[in-house]
Amino acid sequence: MDTPLLSESEIRHRIWQELQRAVPDRHHEWRTPVLATLGVDGAPQARTVVLRHADAGQAVLHIYTDSRSPKVAELEAAPQVSLVFWSKRLSWQLRVRAQATVVRSGPEVDAVWARISTSAAAGDYLSAQAPGAALEAAADARAGSPGGAHHLALIKLQVHEIDWLELARSGHRRASLTRTKWTWRVP
Ligand SMILES: Cc1cc2nc3c(=O)[nH]c(=O)nc-3n(C[C@H](O)[C@H](O)[C@H](O)COP(=O)(O)O)c2cc1C
Repeated sequence: MDTPLLSESEIRHRIWQELQRAVPDRHHEWRTPVLATLGVDGAPQARTVVLRHADAGQAVLHIYTDSRSPKVAELEAAPQVSLVFWSKRLSWQLRVRAQATVVRSGPEVDAVWARISTSAAAGDYLSAQAPGAALEAAADARAGSPGGAHHLALIKLQVHEIDWLELARSGHRRASLTRTKWTWRVP
């Protein structure tokens, strides 16, 4: 028997429920979306990131990064981004349009750092050289700077629109969701 089709409000609820589940679940396919930005040279850039926080009420997602990474300069110059999530289990793709804000210091960053500074991930934010620096110039990059300043930055993404695509043998479905509007689209 076919599973019943979810309604608009059920799909909206499920999207955010799955995004929230993906944060603590290392095996969730939506834990590692692709973040696309506009490169400073005008060419698109895309890379895998880890989803660290999803707030359904505020429609906000968080990602952590090194403040010296090229994507931070890109976001500060052009804060409109796209995030792409695909789940084979759900047969759902999300293309999320969002506005990014980079937070480099302050209580929010301090709270995140307090949590991860003793974890294995701390080294990701302590390297002596910036991510992407050529290796000849960064021979001691892996040494890090124990006790030194970290370079953790928080990327906050205010979600404006989600393009939801469901693949199904019985017929694909697609819709655009904003906080107030639902538009069915040709898949
Ligand atoms: C599975 C996976 C997860 C990743 N998670 C992050 C992340 O959460 N934050 C991040 O800055 N880079 C992450 N990266 C590395 C980025 O994909 C990218 O290589 C790096 O951030 C440099 O990107 P940029 O040069 O565009 O700034 C991850 C890579 C992989 C393969």
